[in-house]
Amino acid sequence: MELTIVGSGYVGTTVAACLADAGHRVQALDIDASIVARINAGESPIVEPGLEELIATHAGDRLVATSDYANLPTGNLTMLSIQTPTHDDGRIDVGPLAGAIESVGARLAEVLGPDDRHLVVIKSTVVPPALETLRTALAEGFGDASGTVELATNPEFQREGHAVEDFRFPQKIVLGVESSWAETLLRELYQPVIDAADPVVIVTDPPTAAMIKYANNAFLAAKISLINDIGNACKAFGVDAYEVADAIGTDDRIGARFLRSGVGFGGSCFPKDVKALQGAARDAGYDPMMLEAALAVNEHQPRRLVELLAERIELADARVAVLGLAFKPGTDDIRNSRAIPVIERLREAGATVVGYDPVATTNMRSRFPDIEYTDTASEALDGADGAVVVTDWDEFAALDDAFDAMADPVVVDGRRVIERRDGIEYVGLTW
Ligand code: UDX
Repeated sequence: MELTIVGSGYVGTTVAACLADAGHRVQALDIDASIVARINAGESPIVEPGLEELIATHAGDRLVATSDYANLPTGNLTMLSIQTPTHDDGRIDVGPLAGAIESVGARLAEVLGPDDRHLVVIKSTVVPPALETLRTALAEGFGDASGTVELATNPEFQREGHAVEDFRFPQKIVLGVESSWAETLLRELYQPVIDAADPVVIVTDPPTAAMIKYANNAFLAAKISLINDIGNACKAFGVDAYEVADAIGTDDRIGARFLRSGVGFGGSCFPKDVKALQGAARDAGYDPMMLEAALAVNEHQPRRLVELLAERIELADARVAVLGLAFKPGTDDIRNSRAIPVIERLREAGATVVGYDPVATTNMRSRFPDIEYTDTASEALDGADGAVVVTDWDEFAALDDAFDAMADPVVVDGRRVIERRDGIEYVGLTW
């Protein structure tokens, strides 16, 4: 098949490269000329395992990039993966996505004849009520689209750091369509993945598909906050929350995954999507209580981490090592990283913060330019009066002797990566 994917961010670039690899001819469209140049040069504009190899293999052949809407359409399918930024109140801004849809519509109006049919697929995460705004934007560009241009939603469930693998072997593919023609087209698009991974294919209408994405992320985020809530209670009772989690995870109604309690969830999806769903539901007249609680627990965990340290050392003028700055291991992404509130609170309490992360230092430096950063975890610990673990990088499990160089070896672990051992005062967040 031939198609264009508008937007070459984390999701758009991965999907474009993977679909090219699956045998389709993909045009990636992005208004950022430097991203376009990188893709056409066979380089990845983002860090994602396996992605650069795919782009290098297919660039100039089955994968081409452009900045020009005049190169639309290719085939009868255009997919949009444009960011939906968050407003201060948590609601999403569909303005950039609506603008892109209007541009796509305007271009399609120039070239499509009365017998043509085109599918515009929204891959971006949008709350169901926003679909009306997007429909209006399409009409602004195209005029009356009925019978010629159809909208569909097709949310993405990739994890950062595993995006290529998750695209190739998804557990489910969700198609939000309005006709069997659109369903057939999207099934044909995903046929190589369906053949290889045998995912569940869910076919529904566009708003339901959009909601499935939010429900999925909200459920996982709430699962983490629930185990954190239980974990805090466990700690108060002197019980190990990980032993409890292992036991309840054997009940397949609960499931063993996403039961790691600690300093909470970060990243580009969970916090943003839970807030967006909460905001959209409030606008529609319902105030979701569990979502409020999930967010509240997630804000509490970094506070609690710092409190546990403050119960043991005087934070004012203390030198505190923050081990891990990325929102999770395997990425340099610091968006909503729990390290951010941890560093803020430590600084408010008068501590001198020394940050270390194997890959995320550059990104955190732009957020906190005036804290100290080290090239190794050992250097961060050297002479420190206390340490907190915020990201579960494997290398922290092997630190051993490095703790001996601390002035006061108090370690509060927010991710259960450090072994309890003689010579350090070890404090688990929920164990
Ligand atoms: C998530 C969803 O998993 C993915 O399906 C969606 O498309 C985008 O959002 P991602 O943000 O890449 O993916 O990260 P994920 O691996 O799911 O972890 C999210 C956060 O939850 C991390 O900060 C992680 O540390 C935290 N987490 C995860 C826990 O605190 N405990 C757990 O048990 C699992």
